[in-house]
Amino acid sequence: MTDFSQLARDRFSARRFDPSKEVTEEQIAKIVKAGLDAPTAVNFQPFKIWVFRSAEAKEKLLSATKMKFIGDAPVIFMIGAKAESAWVRPFDEKNYADIDAAIVTTHMMLEIHDLGLGSTWIGHFDAPTVQQLFPETAGYSLVALLPAAHLAEDCVPSERHLVSKPEEELVTVL
Ligand SMILES: Cc1cc2nc3c(=O)[nH]c(=O)nc-3n(C[C@H](O)[C@H](O)[C@H](O)COP(=O)(O)O)c2cc1C
Repeated sequence: MTDFSQLARDRFSARRFDPSKEVTEEQIAKIVKAGLDAPTAVNFQPFKIWVFRSAEAKEKLLSATKMKFIGDAPVIFMIGAKAESAWVRPFDEKNYADIDAAIVTTHMMLEIHDLGLGSTWIGHFDAPTVQQLFPETAGYSLVALLPAAHLAEDCVPSERHLVSKPEEELVTVL
């Protein structure tokens, strides 16, 4: 069984992939399943996972992001949140769609790492252009792109991976 603490500690954003190695259909199915297993508020599941597998679909998607390294990934997932299907907290009208989609994305990101593959959560992409290119995404807020790939031999964590604010600043015990 996976040691979760170790997994959480070891995971890092991978930005150099080996395009010569495939990600199998079984691995893709496991990554998707991890997303589908994620908890959502009131179990409303207001999300969608798009799997970019064909060269044509990936190329179209890549035109809307400057993160060209994801082009080396055999598969790219995109996670969207549907506000109209989400739970809304009655006290302050807070819509939970983005939060739910972020939990789904996190589950998938950790599964990718657990499979010995690499990924980086990409938030910096031209979502309006993606929505134009893929009209089936209408009604969703695009939360993340998540490539999954084998790591290049020289792939290492970035300096940011090691930067952490002091625990006292981030955690308050009351
Ligand atoms: C919501 C979110 C959006 C992110 N967007 C990007 C992005 O667009 N491009 C990128 O290179 N990394 C992106 N990252 C990765 C972060 O930069 C990275 O997680 C952070 O620097 C810590 O490094 P680590 O993941 O290696 O521990 C994103 C991460 C999160 C959680």
